[in-house]
Amino acid sequence: KAIRKAVIAGNWKMNKTPAEAKELINGIKPLVKDAACGVVCCVPYVDLPVVLEAAKGSNIGVGAENCHWEKSGAFTGEISAEMLASMGVEYVIIGHSERRQYFGETNETVNKRIRAALDAGLRVILCVGESLQQREQGVTSELVAMQTKIALDGVTKDELAHIIIAYEPIWAIGTGKTATSEQANEVCHTIRATVASLYDQKAADALTVQYGGSMKPGNAADLLAQPDVDGGLIGGASLKPQDFAAIVKAAS
Ligand code: G3P
Repeated sequence: KAIRKAVIAGNWKMNKTPAEAKELINGIKPLVKDAACGVVCCVPYVDLPVVLEAAKGSNIGVGAENCHWEKSGAFTGEISAEMLASMGVEYVIIGHSERRQYFGETNETVNKRIRAALDAGLRVILCVGESLQQREQGVTSELVAMQTKIALDGVTKDELAHIIIAYEPIWAIGTGKTATSEQANEVCHTIRATVASLYDQKAADALTVQYGGSMKPGNAADLLAQPDVDGGLIGGASLKPQDFAAIVKAAS
């Protein structure tokens, strides 16, 4: 674990107008300036200009919440990885369960988007995770391993260094229900083992694996103390500067 840097990333989801985003990022900035871990804020497309401007010169990395796999063309309403990279965006979330659930995202399109993001020079936060039904059916490990393998198809070992994987059990997202630290660690370990099988142990040991799903100041320290949990992808609590900063502190 010592060789891995923890990364706490906020996922603002579909929240905040540009004016509100400016206020939020400016609220977060001073509170996390001494963080020992990596700090990232992933924000709606329209908020990127103000957030990039406000984060300039700070220790906060800025990310988008999705990107399309084509470079350009007739894809009404979509945003390409190139467009993001050209603005100075550094990260992009790919394969969030909300995209998979509500917008028809599949393991194959996740893979294509990762390819496009890497080609554009972006860092990727790849999300994987099971539904409650899948957990109850006992297929969590197989499912998460499959999501990981298909998403990483064609990704080289060098490129893997630009990828973070976030384990987000769907049943824990926005529900106030957190996975126990043991459950989180178990699946994060499965993800790392899957990556070891695809590449090698060294590459797997260097991979940052985050947990996401109702992570809050009250449970962050326990989750982050787990050997295979290297950070968090934070939804609701990332919209509250004090809470986000407290989680960053717990990771430092
Ligand atoms: O991507 C972060 C996420 O889905 C977790 O959301 O609100 O449960 O922290 P939340």
